[in-house]
Amino acid sequence: MKIAILSNGNGNYSTKRLVEEAKKRGHEVKVIKYRDCYASIEQNNPTVSYRGEDLGKYDAIIPRIASNMTRYGTAIVRQLEMQGAYTVSSSIAINRSRDKLRSLQLLAKAGVGIPKTVVSRNTTDIDVLLEQLGDMPVIIKLARGTHGNGVVLAETKKAAKSVLQAFYLTNEDGTNVLLQEFVRESAGTDIRAFVVGGRVVASMQRKSLDDDFRSNLHKGGEGTKVKLTDEENKMVIKAAKAMGLNIAGVDMMRSARGPLILEVNASPGFGIEKVTGRDVATPIIEYIEQNAKRSNKKDKIGA
Ligand SMILES: Nc1ncnc2c1ncn2[C@@H]1O[C@H](COP(=O)(O)OP(=O)(O)O)[C@@H](O)[C@H]1O
Ligand SMILES: [Mg+2]
Repeated sequence: MKIAILSNGNGNYSTKRLVEEAKKRGHEVKVIKYRDCYASIEQNNPTVSYRGEDLGKYDAIIPRIASNMTRYGTAIVRQLEMQGAYTVSSSIAINRSRDKLRSLQLLAKAGVGIPKTVVSRNTTDIDVLLEQLGDMPVIIKLARGTHGNGVVLAETKKAAKSVLQAFYLTNEDGTNVLLQEFVRESAGTDIRAFVVGGRVVASMQRKSLDDDFRSNLHKGGEGTKVKLTDEENKMVIKAAKAMGLNIAGVDMMRSARGPLILEVNASPGFGIEKVTGRDVATPIIEYIEQNAKRSNKKDKIGA
């Protein structure tokens, strides 16, 4: 097959691993810097060009769109979809995963466990909102943050109110802000499960090394291999499905009332391979081999 990986370039570990495994399995692979692609939107003739030439036909596309390039990246993926190309992650699903509020709404609807979450445009009703979440502290989160940036722990009601005000002040009609129950039982620790085609192919626990409540590896968290319980396994698979993602990095916390899903990432990093010793690249290529022949399934998530 001819496979195109849309990414920031060859230097990235995840991209390297995909190229390596695809080649091993006899495929022709090209890494396309989607930032350098451009699209012509023309009646009945959607084209994508790259470095002055038409991108041409590929049997499968693997989008690895960075969160700070979501709009442009998914526009290019969408254009390729318009041409009838098979993409392992759809532009709609990638977009949806980049909004934590939209994601939580869908996860909750699908019956996936999530931390109690409320959203409000103003702070007038903050006391009522905080009451719904239970005790202080609470988590305040930008709906479009990544790598732990934009996630704040507010210890007191006063702090919660001023943080919420500050967040909204700096982004009128921008990103929504979530107020969330603080999952105290496993603060500083979370679990990342890597799901491919409805199967968990690797899972790790991440622990912050200092007293930070955030366990993101980008924040200096440390990963170790972890085995999921049957319940957790089912929950993360359900979460990926609810988001319409064939490839997903599902973030989960262990709480007293069972597993709670924090978010579902559409371009999960492959660093989990180094932590767990599990190969996540090969299952992706295998998934494509089994599914690329079909046309893209219609997205039926509805939001
Ligand atoms: N409700 C919560 N309770 C306790 N810790 C949380 C909660 N939400 C997030 N965290 C911590 O903050 C980290 C980052 O939050 P997350 O929602 O995954 O945003 P990001 O997209 O920035 O990774 C999580 O990995 C977890 O360690
Ligand atoms: Mg996260």
